[in-house]
Amino acid sequence: MDSLTITQPDDWHLHLRDGDQLISVIADTAARFGRAVVMPNLKPPVVSVAQALGYRERILAARPPGSAFEPLMTLYLTADTTPAQIQQVAATPQVVGVKLYPAGATTNSEAGVTSLDALTPVFEAMAEHAVPLLIHGETTDPNDDVFDREARFVDGALTRLHGRHPELKIVLEHITTADAVAWIGETGPRTAATVTAHHLLLNRNAIFSGGLRPHHYCLPVLKRERHREALVEAATSVANTGKYFLGTDSAPHSIANKHSACGCAGIYTAHAAIELYAEVFEAAGALDRLEAFASFHGPDFYGLPRNRVMLNLVREAWTVPETLSLGDELLVPLRAGERVRWRIAAQPS
Ligand code: NCD
Ligand code: ZN
Repeated sequence: MDSLTITQPDDWHLHLRDGDQLISVIADTAARFGRAVVMPNLKPPVVSVAQALGYRERILAARPPGSAFEPLMTLYLTADTTPAQIQQVAATPQVVGVKLYPAGATTNSEAGVTSLDALTPVFEAMAEHAVPLLIHGETTDPNDDVFDREARFVDGALTRLHGRHPELKIVLEHITTADAVAWIGETGPRTAATVTAHHLLLNRNAIFSGGLRPHHYCLPVLKRERHREALVEAATSVANTGKYFLGTDSAPHSIANKHSACGCAGIYTAHAAIELYAEVFEAAGALDRLEAFASFHGPDFYGLPRNRVMLNLVREAWTVPETLSLGDELLVPLRAGERVRWRIAAQPS
C-alpha cells in the first residue's frame, strides 16, 4: 500500500500555546487534523468558560486562510472549580472537557489540584452532565521514581477516583505504560486513553542515545521497551474497540527553554503527526486500523460527529527541517534532520 486515504483525523490532546507561538504552530495541526482538544495550561491557566471562549477566538483568528480547523476547548481544573462552572461547560459545545493536572506534575501545572477528595461535588457534576475528565496521570511525590509515577497514579488516585465516580467519563492522557493499558482494559466503557506518536515510536533509550537528548524529554517520560510494545499493541490491535485514540501531546518549547540546565518537558510532533502514527501502524502491520484510531474512536467517545472530509497519505519519505519557528525563537521538532516515511498528499478535500 503506497497511499492511504482516511477520514480526516482529530488530535485529542494538543498544546497550541498563545500569541506569536500559537501563530507559528497552528498551521501544522490545521494541515492534518479537523479538530484538536486544546490544553488549557497557559500562563495563567484557562480556568473559566469565558477564558476558554476568548482563547478559542484567538485560535480561530490564527488559523491559516481558508482553514476549517476547529479547536475543542478545555478548562483547567483547580481547587476553585465549582459545579456551576461544570454546568456552564455542559451548556457550551465549544468546551468539551476539564483537564486535571496534579499540582507540579508537568509544564505550567503549578495551579493544579492537590486534593481530589475536595473536588467530589465537581466530579459528581461532571458525571451528571457527561463532561469528560482529562487526566495527566502521574503522582507528584518527589520521592516517587520518575519512571514509576504513572503506574503509581493508576493504581492509587485513579483507581480510587474511578471507584468513587464510576459514571464519570475519564480520558487518561498520553499513556506510557503497560499498567495504564491494563487499567483501561479492566475498566468499563467510560474510560479511554490517548496515545502519542512519540510514546509509540521511542523508548527511554532515546533520551540518552550517545548523550543527553533534550528533545526526547517529555512528561510522562518515555518508558522502557516493554511498555512501548504494550502501547503499540493497545493502539493497533483488533482488540482496540474504541478505548484508545490519537492525542499527539505536541508541546512546543523554544530551543532556549530546552537547552537549559533545567530544560522544559515537551516534544513537538505537530509538523508530522499523522505521518508518524502511519509509520507506527505500518510497522505493526496494521495500516488498515489507523483510521479507527485516528478518526473514529475519539469523536465516538466524546459524542461528536466523525469528520466528513478525507485525508490522503502517501508513502514517500521527506526530511524534517532542523528547526521550525516558534514566535521569534526556534524549536527543534521530532526527527529534526531525519526522514519521515509518510507524507500528506494534499489538503483534505
Ligand atoms: C506539556 C507542555 O509542555 O505543556 N509537556 C509535556 O511534556 N507533555 C505538558 C503536558 O502535557 O504534560
Ligand atoms: Zn500535554
